[in-house]
This record gives sequence, C-alpha cells and structure tokens, in this order.
Amino acid sequence: MIHTKQSIIAQLEQLRVLPILVTDDVDQAIRCVTTLAENGLPAVEITLRTPNAMTVLREVIKACPNVVVGAGTVLTSAQLDAVKYAGAAFGISPGITPTLARAAAESGLPYFPGVGGASDLMLALEHGFDVVKLFPSDIVGGIKMAKALGGPFPDVRFCLTGGVTVEATPGLLRQNNILCVGGSWMCPASLINAGDWEAIGTLATQAMIAGRPQLA
Ligand code: 3PG
Repeated sequence: MIHTKQSIIAQLEQLRVLPILVTDDVDQAIRCVTTLAENGLPAVEITLRTPNAMTVLREVIKACPNVVVGAGTVLTSAQLDAVKYAGAAFGISPGITPTLARAAAESGLPYFPGVGGASDLMLALEHGFDVVKLFPSDIVGGIKMAKALGGPFPDVRFCLTGGVTVEATPGLLRQNNILCVGGSWMCPASLINAGDWEAIGTLATQAMIAGRPQLA
C-alpha cells in the first residue's frame, strides 16, 4: 500500500482514534493489531520503546497489509530511516528537534512531530508540518492548549496523546482543530500479556464508537 501524508490524514480524519501499541512480542503484536482492525480500528502506532520494536514493526506490516501501521517514539534520524525502510506508513515523535524535523522533511515519509507548545509548533511549521502530536496531552493542557494554539496557528491540526481516555474522547473530538486522539488504553499491556483478545476487542469497539458516534 502506498501511503502519502494526505492518505494518512484522510484515514485519521475518518477513524479519529489511533491505538498506540507497546509490545516486544511479534505474535502478540500481530494478534493485537488484527483484533483492533477487526473491531473498527485499522490503523496503529507501534512504538519504538522496546528492544525488539523494529522486528515487531516489520512483522506486523507484513502480516496486516490492510492496516495502516505507523511507527512511534521516533527520536532520531537513524530511527526515521529505519522505520521508512521497514515499510512504516508514517512516523510520529513525542517531540521535535531541528535535526529530526529536517530529516523528516527530506525523507518523504509522512511524519507527525510532537509539540508541547508554541515554540515547538513554530519549528514544526518551519519544516512544513501542520499536523502534529500534542504530547503529553493531559500534562501540557489537552483541549485547552489545542484551543489556545488555534489562535495564532489556525491551520494546524492536533493529534492528542498521553493520558487520553475513552470517556474524554468525544469531548476532545468536538474541538475543531483536534484531528484525532491516540492512546494505549484500547490495548493495555496487562491485556496483551494475558492474551485477552476479547477484552481488547471490546475496548477497541468502545474507542471506535467514541471516535465515530454515528456508527453506534
Ligand atoms: C504516547 O506515546 O503517545 C503515549 O504513551 C500514549 O499515552 P497513553 O499510554 O497515556 O495512552
């Protein structure tokens, strides 16, 4: 599947909820991503937070061709190259640096830098990134921060992650510059480790409905 910035944004506009997966086990990751997709969430961010994460990313991409699989916690240009090479649909970072922003702009990989405030956002815009991750959302102000930044930056859209809950999701998504929310709440480590795919399916369905209440 060929992904462009536009196609990824269109997918996020439709789903409005992006599951964030943290696991080091390939089989669990494939099972989890399959369960999320079967329950209405065919997009995922796989974080590079575990030693085996690159293998997990590669294998999930292979096993789940109909899922938009992005890579998160991209901290360096080398990681950005590696996830692009692995076939990730997009890269996403918790923050932004001039080096990484430049590399991402040159790479052509759809990419969403992380911002915590106006200065980060100005750096993102200097490199052409107008869809950004607001992180950690619950600490830096969440919906209030998105609304405040909408004044000086009316064309920017945010993906809020960090401390987002299913209960908060419908309210957050009513704010017009919030493109989507993301989080690990629909695939928590405790349920992944227990292999409780049914419970993960239920959480995914709830998240899907929180993002798209018209489908309830
Ligand atoms: C992220 O990478 O964006 C966060 O770790 C997700 O936050 P959550 O675990 O609080 O959902």
